Amino acid sequence: MLPWTAGRTAIALVAAAAAAAALADGTAWIAPPEAAALRNPVAPSPLSWQHGGRLFARHCSVCHGEAGKGDGPESGELKTRPADLTDPRRLGRMHDGEIFWKIGHGRDPMPPFSRILSDQAIWHLTNFVRTLPERSSDPERFARLETPAVSLPTVLSCP
Ligand code: HEC
Repeated sequence: MLPWTAGRTAIALVAAAAAAAALADGTAWIAPPEAAALRNPVAPSPLSWQHGGRLFARHCSVCHGEAGKGDGPESGELKTRPADLTDPRRLGRMHDGEIFWKIGHGRDPMPPFSRILSDQAIWHLTNFVRTLPERSSDPERFARLETPAVSLPTVLSCP
């Protein structure tokens, strides 16, 4: 083997190994650097989570599962397993902008949601997705936070 071909083979092998390692730990889908710099204009709040949660149930749980574990009813039919969004390490690696970008762009078989949802809706989803690791370990805390302190019948029965 000529020295330069050996060098190239070595580079190709290193690149292949890096790609395999990236796939193995689930980091293979990398959003572009400008995505990380996007500022989330929607502050996280129980109202934003509720809004995002409703969108998640409607558009995402079919693949990602109701709780986001990647075990939705369609998950077994897909060529790639839907990501487990309750994994704190996975979420910890991503800025809000990267989550926003991935939801908007999709990657086959995940559809690009910017075609059907507004940026605002995708930011609510981003805020909700952020809560999934904690939500999966302490669902009651979020149920309490998202229940309005004063319910409508109480207000109406006031003198
Ligand atoms: C048709 C099935 C499907 C639907 C519907 C779907 N996803 Fe996905 N999603 C996937 C798959 C598969 C992956 C993994 C893609 C990959 O790594 O190539 C993924 C990956 C992701 C990731 C990236 C995780 C990471 O670590 O890179 C996020 C965030 C995500 N989905 C959020 C959502 C949200 C929010 C919705 C709803 C608006 C949604 N997905 C709807 C299948 C789906």
